[in-house]
Amino acid sequence: MELVNNKYRFEGGIDPLELCREYGTPLYVYDASVMEAQYKRMTSAFTWPAFRAHYACKALTNISVLRLFRSLGAGLDCVSVFEVKLGLKAGFKPDDILFTPNFAGADEFEEAVKLGVKINVDAIPMLENWGLHHRDYPLCLRINPHLMAGGNEKISVGHIDSKFGISIHQLPHVLRIVESQGLKVNGLHMHTGSDILDVDIFMRGAEILFDAAARFPDLEYIDLGSGFKVPYKPDDIETDIEELGEKLSNRFAEFCESYGRELTLMVEPGKFLVSSAGYLFARCTLVKQTTSTAFVGVDTGLNHLIRPMFYGSYHKIVSITEPTFKQLQASSGRSNDTKREGCAHQTKRNAGGFAGNTDICLMIWLTSTRWPMKV
Ligand SMILES: Cc1ncc(COP(=O)(O)O)c(C=O)c1O
Repeated sequence: MELVNNKYRFEGGIDPLELCREYGTPLYVYDASVMEAQYKRMTSAFTWPAFRAHYACKALTNISVLRLFRSLGAGLDCVSVFEVKLGLKAGFKPDDILFTPNFAGADEFEEAVKLGVKINVDAIPMLENWGLHHRDYPLCLRINPHLMAGGNEKISVGHIDSKFGISIHQLPHVLRIVESQGLKVNGLHMHTGSDILDVDIFMRGAEILFDAAARFPDLEYIDLGSGFKVPYKPDDIETDIEELGEKLSNRFAEFCESYGRELTLMVEPGKFLVSSAGYLFARCTLVKQTTSTAFVGVDTGLNHLIRPMFYGSYHKIVSITEPTFKQLQASSGRSNDTKREGCAHQTKRNAGGFAGNTDICLMIWLTSTRWPMKV
């Protein structure tokens, strides 16, 4: 969305205020043109011909968004059978879906097998039982390469204390199970975290998987997981996707040559594809002046946007009816019910403009994802 001649407009000249009037507030709006641009940016960065991106749909499972990514040619990364079913409903074919749960029980795996999707196993007990029930159903293995990386420890999941994946140190044990049960391992996977900026860290993780891959003769794909770092604030930095795409594609070509066959190179970003595409529109309900500041109340709250409480995340707020109000203070959770330094001054100064005008819509810009699902 852009500010042109003092008016916010979506691509194609769509007026956000009209959307609010038509659909009411609070209202989520997702800009397909932004998601498409991010998807194309990524697919052009990875030059390896057999490149496939699986959208990690936990970032946003809105069914229209799933349909959009399907139409663009993406596959889907799902962490529950519920997500798998949503993906199928959105038109993905079972083979386009990778089921990557953590601590799912046998019944959930059973259901996923019945639905015919690709299976990613991330626990040895599940692997030990696989041959008893599904010896001929191929599976992918989620390996934990033990890389601690990324700026946010809440979303760093590839380190040694993480519950995710099968430790790379347990590889000999894994190989014994695979060989003794005659299992067909057709994929290797890792996901080291959602906040990795450094291309060298990705490359290090890739090397670990390439080394392991030499021990599995039936591979069809290697999924390097993902979670590219996105800008969380306007001037924040992001993963250099162009550099990463080029380096990984070149290295993958060398790997395939030594492996003896061309495999599919997969990644599975979520927020990289959607984080800059979402908006939450809310209507101002009341302005309350206290002795220290002015609070602008809106018809939304932590039930619609929990991320500030979970992650301390930042979401830019602007007024779409009064665009000159440059920045407003977010207060979307119980822990944020007080004014904050920096923005409070401006909120106070601008408060008069909101008073008594309940037609005013605030536009909350979602700079990152994991907001509640809406189908
Ligand atoms: C298995 C898996 N793949 C990929 C991702 C990447 O998601 P995002 O890019 O939204 O961080 C995640 C995130 O937690 C994940 O759990």
